[in-house]
Amino acid sequence: MRGTGRPIPRLQTPVISLQPPVFIAEKNFPPEKGVLFFSIMRLAILSDIHANLEALVEVLADLERAGADEVICLGDHVGYGPDPEAVVEEIRRRGLPSVLGNHELALLDPAELEWFNPLAQVSLLRTAAMISAETLAYLKSLQPSLEAHGSLFVHGFPPDSATTYLFEVPEDLLIETLAQLPQRGCFIGHTHELAFATLEHGRLAWQELEPQPIPLPGRGRFLVNVGSVGQPRDGDPRAKYILWDQRADTIELRRVPFDAARTAARIRALGLPEAHARRLEFQPLRRDA
Ligand SMILES: [Fe+2]
Repeated sequence: MRGTGRPIPRLQTPVISLQPPVFIAEKNFPPEKGVLFFSIMRLAILSDIHANLEALVEVLADLERAGADEVICLGDHVGYGPDPEAVVEEIRRRGLPSVLGNHELALLDPAELEWFNPLAQVSLLRTAAMISAETLAYLKSLQPSLEAHGSLFVHGFPPDSATTYLFEVPEDLLIETLAQLPQRGCFIGHTHELAFATLEHGRLAWQELEPQPIPLPGRGRFLVNVGSVGQPRDGDPRAKYILWDQRADTIELRRVPFDAARTAARIRALGLPEAHARRLEFQPLRRDA
């Protein structure tokens, strides 16, 4: 069984509410036009960029093509990859709201680093030496969860766990959590895999995420694992993110090619763990968190 063996939190903690929505800086409408709140049509949800600037740049270009009006990031901006400073700078420059990932948590708290496997620990210790004081202060400012558009955004599992993996949550606890969720749904990352679950009339159902629009449940609850931008583990080397068309109330998987060979070469050039370069090249290695 995969997982850390850590206790899984139960739904009881209040979350940070994101008010008002924050937009991609370049796409902001002038507030004086009075259309700001009504212009949101497409929300992109990104997770687990993991210091992969090549993947982030391609995803940001795809956001433009897809007509995304707003972006929310689900954490793990850093760790594994060669460009933690540049990735965080880009997220901050665009004013993209984000929650705290377990890699940010481990950067800030040595006790959390103990839960990581040895290679991930090496990568994070190197990351700590590669980021500026401003970036560290920004990472410290991240909250474990946020609420926007009637939904919850968290790295690992609702309500606010950055460390719980969806695959280690028993089905009865998932049903209980979704049934009690004050919001209509929750977007998560952390596993670097894709998942879409709905709870309607007490019945849990799983669906494949597809690069075509899929309706969200009208009255039930939902949970979406949006995959990873910078280190996919879903069997497909492309970066992944989810686009939520709020007018149609559908979600759509976006798959974005990026130059993984270049990122892997940068990991090697910096002397970061070879396993993290090989993972981007989809070469065999043991599973690590
Ligand atoms: Fe991650």
